[in-house]
Amino acid sequence: MHHTYASLKSIAAYIPPHCVSNTDFEKIIDTSDEWITERTGIKTRYFADASQTTSDLAYEAGKVAIQRAGLTPQDIDIVIVSTLSGDYLSMPSTACLTSFKLGIENKPAFDISAACSGFIYLLGLAKSFIESKTYKNILIIGAERISSILDFTDRNTCVLFGDGAGACVIGATNDPKEAILEVDICANGRYENLLYTPRQCTTFPQLTPKPPKRESVVHMEGKEIFKLAVKTLTQNVNEILAKHQLSAQDVNFFVPHQANLRIINAVGKQLNFTPEQIVLTVQKYSNTSAASIPMAINDIYENSRLKYGDLMLLDAFGGGLTWGSALVRFALKN
Ligand code: UT7
Repeated sequence: MHHTYASLKSIAAYIPPHCVSNTDFEKIIDTSDEWITERTGIKTRYFADASQTTSDLAYEAGKVAIQRAGLTPQDIDIVIVSTLSGDYLSMPSTACLTSFKLGIENKPAFDISAACSGFIYLLGLAKSFIESKTYKNILIIGAERISSILDFTDRNTCVLFGDGAGACVIGATNDPKEAILEVDICANGRYENLLYTPRQCTTFPQLTPKPPKRESVVHMEGKEIFKLAVKTLTQNVNEILAKHQLSAQDVNFFVPHQANLRIINAVGKQLNFTPEQIVLTVQKYSNTSAASIPMAINDIYENSRLKYGDLMLLDAFGGGLTWGSALVRFALKN
């Protein structure tokens, strides 16, 4: 009997049309290209057009991911989207709308909420669904229109994030050289107040006191998050490599969540990854939350760096707090 492994069958991304530079921010807030570059590495980010919703971005990435897997939308058994900036406040889910735009009807679709770790969570779900033989072809998408929940008067947050989507098809294989070897995910709600998007609450008029009004935009304690991110991301890598008796040198690509170049460099240095191994897109795309890792994988794929069978180590950290890592072989024959 062959073992059934989950396998990453394709990768695709959508980059929205409006490229916004650091100097564009100098016109609206008290900031500088120098500060943003030095503290974050970010030079540009891409924002969706006013007419585009998150499901529009997810659709574009999803469509190409299905094509690259050699499939049609009718072959997809389930669509799962991770987003913190969905089309609607709570329903319908962005996955429902994305499925319909792709021409997929009467199949399951739902969203998950795991902030910047969303793509690793999606991989974990898809892996279980494949290994349990529940579904054959799963479309997972990290999609964000974070520009719709940014406070463009808060220089501490608005320069850091961008829009985008990354998608892939997860299918089954019997070949361990094409397998998703491991997905580890974790969370701790103790750190609720470090990174959050408040929700305006209505209250029955007779009940007092009224809840305080807090704006529904991203709030972040950058310094605290920075320290926890470096520590957690490093620990994730050490644990997942040890579990598989691998060392940093055995990995073709280290693909960390793209939040800050200083975080990535600090983690990369502690773990002895070479610059060639570390995938960097934060300079051009900034932090696209759940979309950042699949967008980074797509970047090395489209630049012909990523080859069939390559081993990638994915590593993410974000609001929740949530975190996770994965060891994934690339299974798309170029
Ligand atoms: O994706 C989820 C996880 N998120 C992250 O991983 C983000 C983690 N955090 C970070 O990336 C960094 O902490 C930031 C980039 C957010 C901030 O960098 P920092 O080196 O920690 O700077 P800081 O917060 O200590 O701020 C230094 C100064 C402050 O001024 P004072 O109080 O020292 O006078 C800020 O007000 O820089 C000021 N500042 C800015 N100045 C110009 C903050 N934002 C800006 C800005 N332009 N955009």
